[in-house]
Amino acid sequence: MLFQLSEEQLMIQQAARDFAQNELRPGVIERDEHQKFPAEQVKKLGELGFLGMMVSEKFGGSGLDAVSYVLVMEELSKVDASASVVVSVNNSLVCYGLEAYGSEFQKEKYLKPLASGQQIGAFCLSEPEAGSDATSQQTTAEDKGDYYLLNGTKNWITNGSTASTYLVIAQTHPDLKHKGINAFIVEKGMEGFTIGPKENKMGIRGSDTHSLMFNDVKVPKENRIGEDGFGFKFAMKTLEGGRIGIAAQALGIAAGAYELALAYSKQRKSFGKPISEHQAIAFKLADMATQIEAARMLVYKAAWLKDQGLPYTLAGSMAKLFASKVAMDVTVEAVQVHGGYGFVKEYHVERLMRDAKITQIYEGTSEIQQMVISREILR
Ligand code: CAA
Repeated sequence: MLFQLSEEQLMIQQAARDFAQNELRPGVIERDEHQKFPAEQVKKLGELGFLGMMVSEKFGGSGLDAVSYVLVMEELSKVDASASVVVSVNNSLVCYGLEAYGSEFQKEKYLKPLASGQQIGAFCLSEPEAGSDATSQQTTAEDKGDYYLLNGTKNWITNGSTASTYLVIAQTHPDLKHKGINAFIVEKGMEGFTIGPKENKMGIRGSDTHSLMFNDVKVPKENRIGEDGFGFKFAMKTLEGGRIGIAAQALGIAAGAYELALAYSKQRKSFGKPISEHQAIAFKLADMATQIEAARMLVYKAAWLKDQGLPYTLAGSMAKLFASKVAMDVTVEAVQVHGGYGFVKEYHVERLMRDAKITQIYEGTSEIQQMVISREILR
């Protein structure tokens, strides 16, 4: 067993670390405060090849492995989870889904601009009445011959207004339940497609989350992904990889908060010495470091399994379940280490604490991960 990153992976990790410090750190507090999407930063992430990391070069991607992807997610998330969620959704949910299951036409037309970072995409599964229970899709796609008529509402859509391409899950044959669901590529600007107001969120406030409304949107038949009825499997397979990305985001949030707490504890003095020299703080730091390392092992292992072409459903859900809990626990402790300073925005840890929470909710709540894990181990 080799616990060592390759030269190339180390270089990519360093590039992401530099980007996070130089490009994301300045302005991150203001973007959070004013719910400002990191548009310039996302453009630069695209230029660096971070928006289509695992897509083959043939389709405009960087042709890298999943381990490199989680390294990038971790470094970006240490500083700005609102930017890293864009990277996660575009890579894992949109580009991966299109490359793995799209037609040649779809890859040429839609994947290339997404993988090369000229455009960003959104993944539209959640609905007002179908979050965890994803088989209960109310959005309908009626087969009209050479097009589908799409009607319904999607909720909590990341990149809701900034995306150009939307992968939309909808029910075509309600009598067939999940076997009647399809996935479609919908373009911004298609007639009948409207975008609701931006959600005012507790965390990842810079990210762009909206409801989407589809009212008799005509979607050409060639925009259906895979065979008729493949949509639910498409969503599940795509989310499996997405969960590794979000696990890496959670890991990064935890690691970012820990690094800030560690640095602060060495310079803040109380009772005549740095607070890191008080056992009450030193032991907290020891626990935080241990939890983070354990999360890192699970996240890297899940990515490694994916790279080996081995099953990663269980490992991905375990990584997400554990890393998101670590993100919550560690960020709360990081605020505590900072004392009163941790409660104000300038010290960054309160934002990381707010951002951590979403990692236990999106791309499947912790309870959904427990469901996936228990099914796998009891099978
Ligand atoms: N791979 C392939 N097929 C799968 C699968 C997987 N990982 N998981 C389930 N399926 C298949 C099953 O085999 C079954 O197919 P068959 O009938 O042909 O055998 C079918 O899907 C239905 O599966 P279940 O009976 O297990 O369905 P269920 O309703 O009991 O449970 C679930 C499914 C795991 C709970 C699923 O609904 C789920 O993952 N829910 C959570 C949804 C989610 O993660 N939403 C996140 C929204 S996206 C987001 O957050 C993006 C963002 O903006 C950041």
